[in-house]
Amino acid sequence: MTQNDKDVFARRGFLKGSAAIAGATAVGTLLPSAALAQQAKLKVGLMLPYTGTFAQLGVAITNGFKLAVDERGGKLGGREIEFVTVDDESNPAKAPENVNKLVQRDKVDVVIGTVHSGVVMGMAKVLKESGTLWINPNGGAGAMTGAMCAPNFFRTSFSNWQTTHALGKVLKAKGHKTAVFITWKYAAGEEMMEGFKEGFEKEGGKLVKELYTPFPQVEFQALLTEIASIKPDAVVAFFAGGGAAKFLKDYQAAGLKGKIPLYGSGFLTDGVLDAVGDAAEGVETTLHYADGLDTKKDKAFRLAYAKTFKLQPDVYAVQGYDAGQLLAAGLEAVKGNVADKAGVIKAMEAAKIDSPRGQWTLSKAHNPVQDMYLRKVVGKENKTMGVAWKALADPARGCKM
Ligand code: BEZ
Repeated sequence: MTQNDKDVFARRGFLKGSAAIAGATAVGTLLPSAALAQQAKLKVGLMLPYTGTFAQLGVAITNGFKLAVDERGGKLGGREIEFVTVDDESNPAKAPENVNKLVQRDKVDVVIGTVHSGVVMGMAKVLKESGTLWINPNGGAGAMTGAMCAPNFFRTSFSNWQTTHALGKVLKAKGHKTAVFITWKYAAGEEMMEGFKEGFEKEGGKLVKELYTPFPQVEFQALLTEIASIKPDAVVAFFAGGGAAKFLKDYQAAGLKGKIPLYGSGFLTDGVLDAVGDAAEGVETTLHYADGLDTKKDKAFRLAYAKTFKLQPDVYAVQGYDAGQLLAAGLEAVKGNVADKAGVIKAMEAAKIDSPRGQWTLSKAHNPVQDMYLRKVVGKENKTMGVAWKALADPARGCKM
């Protein structure tokens, strides 16, 4: 095998599915160290939304990932990085074609993506088949680390279920007995609704109505009128990015703020507080990150992020940063020899990520086991109110790994 052949092989990622891992390892570990030193740059494919309602989220994830690389001298596992970027537009219909650009055309070593759960599902089919190493820094689709779980699939964010499950306890503690859930009609909204319902009903609460609008629509008036007529004890919402900002403003404009308390998964108020004036003040949410965690790691991260990008970090930036940290853990263990797939996977599975959110580890299904914070909007902050659920793990239903 020529050096060029080895580079091509190394970049091709997994052969076909998990069965290829052993074979790839056998060849990969044969690379002599002199050859390793001359390895081509590690090709990292970023498949994220850079346009549309989630554009800001894609940028924050990219920034976070690049910060983790910068902190390691611009290298991961000793290898320089070449980035290849695809704007997925949060469009599930284009997901197979977009991810195939990275896998087939660009022959990336690893795919980092994406934000939208529907796009995650489109990527999963292709990446299961190709066996390419995949780190998902946001999209919470349960199936990725559930029924479709695979050795090459890793997530540094959350499952949708995780982000709302603890809200049941929170609402119970406030004395709320009935709730309405409002969201976009797609996997993330439906799964966050299920996570909330399960947690709330376990506490004796009743979800009296599920209200949906198509993604990425932001016309909320008719649904808000319906909420006003139902008069639940509480409203729970999932929207994110531009859609979240619009919802918060419309909730206030409809006269519901201060009348029916609003809760949500933390995406409702993360990264949008500058855009909504006082419309979010007092809104309580659960999420795996919060402002004012007051840890050494978080302070250092926030300072470095603000200095580098002239922006305040949010949960998306943290998830991107941790994707870089997780990949670094995998590649350091094999000294940059990404062809040693089994070695990379083993090291990533065992990693203890020292994250701005607090330390987390991966479940057997490769999803973070992490604390869920209760947060409250105070001024321009999602202020930490405490831990709503310690070390919450996704049930990983249907995962056989
Ligand atoms: C999702 O589609 O999984 C998602 C999008 C934005 C924020 C959180 C989850």
